Amino acid sequence: MEHKTLNTVIHAAFRRDLGRFDAALDADDGALADRLGVAWDNFAAQLRQHHEDEETIFWPAFRELGFDPVIAAELDSEHQRMVDALREADARMQAYRAAPSATSAATARNAVVELGRVLTNHLEHEEHDLEPWAAQQHDTPQLQACAKAVRKAHQHGAGTFFAWLSDGAGPEETAMMKRQMPAPVLWGLTTFGGRGYRKRIASTWA
Ligand SMILES: [Fe+2]
Repeated sequence: MEHKTLNTVIHAAFRRDLGRFDAALDADDGALADRLGVAWDNFAAQLRQHHEDEETIFWPAFRELGFDPVIAAELDSEHQRMVDALREADARMQAYRAAPSATSAATARNAVVELGRVLTNHLEHEEHDLEPWAAQQHDTPQLQACAKAVRKAHQHGAGTFFAWLSDGAGPEETAMMKRQMPAPVLWGLTTFGGRGYRKRIASTWA
């Protein structure tokens, strides 16, 4: 898949994580609970941050630029369903961490699979009905202002964010990230800023 914006690179990272949790929880008798719990906290935080950025920064700009209000309303209600599924999956993951066993792992996995179903439907909808239009708006002052606002809001977590995006990324994803910033800056961010991610999370999936 060719990426026209960072949005779909982020979607690819969500899909990779969903597959990882699905496989790891399926095989776990509770021994992985601590490690998967740490990876889960990152996944949940990235998902919350992504949809909150869309709701507060990107979508208001899209509306101003004339994006179809009917599709915008559909995407908005999908976010609500996703938030509900995330809350449920989060509760099951915390229960698994508190009392690790094959049973609590299986219950957590069911909730993560359900979140994955809701999330994947939403991502596909965005990719089909929003992404091609949004990519054409890239050079507008509104979208340039969005990009600046997101960078400013997430300076602190940028190393973890890019290390997570890079973990398991294919050549298309890497190429898009390099269009976002010079290669040495990306390298510095993921190498130094992403040290915690690599040590505590990437090692779990390796
Ligand atoms: Fe979204």
